[in-house]
Amino acid sequence: MKVVVVTGATRGLGFAICEKLLREGYRIVAVARNSNESFSALLEQFPEQLFFHAFDFTNLDGIHQLAKEIAEKYGRIYGLVNNAAIGSDGVLATMHDNDIGHLLSVNVQAPIILTKYLIRPMLMNQQGRVINVSSIIAETGYSGLSVYGASKAALVGFTKSLAREVGKAKITVNAIAPGFMRTQMTGELDDEKLASIARRSALKSLISCDDVAQGVSYLLSSGASSVTGTTLTIDAGSTA
Ligand SMILES: NC(=O)c1ccc[n+]([C@@H]2O[C@H](COP(=O)([O-])OP(=O)(O)OC[C@H]3O[C@@H](n4cnc5c(N)ncnc54)[C@H](OP(=O)(O)O)[C@@H]3O)[C@@H](O)[C@H]2O)c1
Repeated sequence: MKVVVVTGATRGLGFAICEKLLREGYRIVAVARNSNESFSALLEQFPEQLFFHAFDFTNLDGIHQLAKEIAEKYGRIYGLVNNAAIGSDGVLATMHDNDIGHLLSVNVQAPIILTKYLIRPMLMNQQGRVINVSSIIAETGYSGLSVYGASKAALVGFTKSLAREVGKAKITVNAIAPGFMRTQMTGELDDEKLASIARRSALKSLISCDDVAQGVSYLLSSGASSVTGTTLTIDAGSTA
């Protein structure tokens, strides 16, 4: 059974990715700060296939140990989905420096450091898949999300260079750029705003977390073995 580490797996997109990959037979190591009712139910449903590690990605120094424990406990890691992130908004001119640092730690430094440690077993196995969850905002911009947008654009840059670095070991590295999905992260967007996003998209709709989970599943599949260094946009045509 192929082992895939999914960060931020307890709700929203990470949860949908977990559910999809579990049904496809992957073994999932889920990482987030806390479990919750729905995630505990999933753990009960897949006791042999789903495992949870509580970890706070603001603790950058602890990531090495986390990666070591995961590699020791679950053996060969096939895939890593860097999905955990925070989406705090704010007008840059009044944002606290600490909040800027906090967002960049969780959204950029943590996935880079986790990838550094989990790519080592992939290099030894001469196979692996890294998927970085970016956002269409990396490309389009969104007022009040400049730091978040910078963090998501950073993951695209990281993806491209790392793809070149590890390609000869048959490891693929891709980004996925979702449009707006209804999750806790976007909970503050009111229905009218969401309706206008849908109206302006090519398909006149919003996407669901399941749509993006399908994309992750594809990038992990054998059919995507020649796909690397790219960004898969799933946004109902919002950026078309
Ligand atoms: N929602 C959208 O419209 C949208 C659009 C484009 C891209 N995205 C991207 O999609 C990904 C998932 O977003 P989402 O909407 O599903 O967000 P969400 O519902 O807020 O879920 C975020 C997940 O990350 C975990 N997490 C947050 N801070 C963490 C920390 N410090 N340490 C460890 N885990 C942490 C959360 O669990 P805990 O809080 O328990 O730690 C949770 O499992 C993110 O990368 C986001 O940027 C979202």
